[in-house]
Amino acid sequence: MNGACKQTADWLKQRLPEVPKVALILGTGLNGIAERGRILFQIPYGEIPGFASSTAPSHKGNLILGELGGTKVLYLQGRFHYYEGHPMSAVVFPTRVLASLGVQTLIVTNASGSLREELAPGSIVMLADHINFMGTNPLIGENDGELGERFPSLNEPYDPRYAETCAQIARHEGIPLNKGVYVAVTGPSLETRAECAAFASLGADLVGMSTVPEVIAARHAGMGVLAFSVVTNYSNLFHNEVHSQEEIRANADKASAQLITIITAFVSGLN
Ligand code: HPA
Repeated sequence: MNGACKQTADWLKQRLPEVPKVALILGTGLNGIAERGRILFQIPYGEIPGFASSTAPSHKGNLILGELGGTKVLYLQGRFHYYEGHPMSAVVFPTRVLASLGVQTLIVTNASGSLREELAPGSIVMLADHINFMGTNPLIGENDGELGERFPSLNEPYDPRYAETCAQIARHEGIPLNKGVYVAVTGPSLETRAECAAFASLGADLVGMSTVPEVIAARHAGMGVLAFSVVTNYSNLFHNEVHSQEEIRANADKASAQLITIITAFVSGLN
């Protein structure tokens, strides 16, 4: 895998009209943000050398160069999940390609289950920190020194300056924006009540099946990270119902309009 992300980045550089400073990984409910502004270039993941192909039904798979609030952004519309059977190297490959392209700021979005009663479905939560409970790490294996160091610090995985800017934007727009700790599990089975209680007592506010691998790979490669979660359901801590994919998507869509407002103002300020 070493060097492959650089080769893919070189391949993309020959095709992209330009490489912006900021990129977004779009999770459940946020896919539509790419279509809000002008699309300047679009390519399906299947046509990009080194990219795996997505199997999750709610996730599209396109790399898009678009405009958001007057700023050029790269979108990863859809992601590869570990639970789909992809190796971690494939899960983080697109993130590493962004870094190799020269992208400096990565905004990651996801859907999650709530471990705190006050974080109701439909809430937006900015990640303040995370707990990697996936039992693995995308940096395991030979270190690609061109990307980053062997033992990168995760002292501040989520850039506090970006977080402060977004808190100000949210206040200005009158949008309630919470901060929380995200625990990543592999899935695809949802968490038991005992697991949820354990995660809450460990200090987690949200649980989900993505994001942490990409954030680790992004920080390894020196990108600044901002991440948001859309709460799509209460975890089994508060009930024991089965959540339908339709319910999860409906709650994600509800919060996504407000999240798009925050992200648009944030990327506009990067100009
Ligand atoms: N658990 C794990 N991942 C999730 C959940 C959940 O409750 N909701 C959305 N993604």
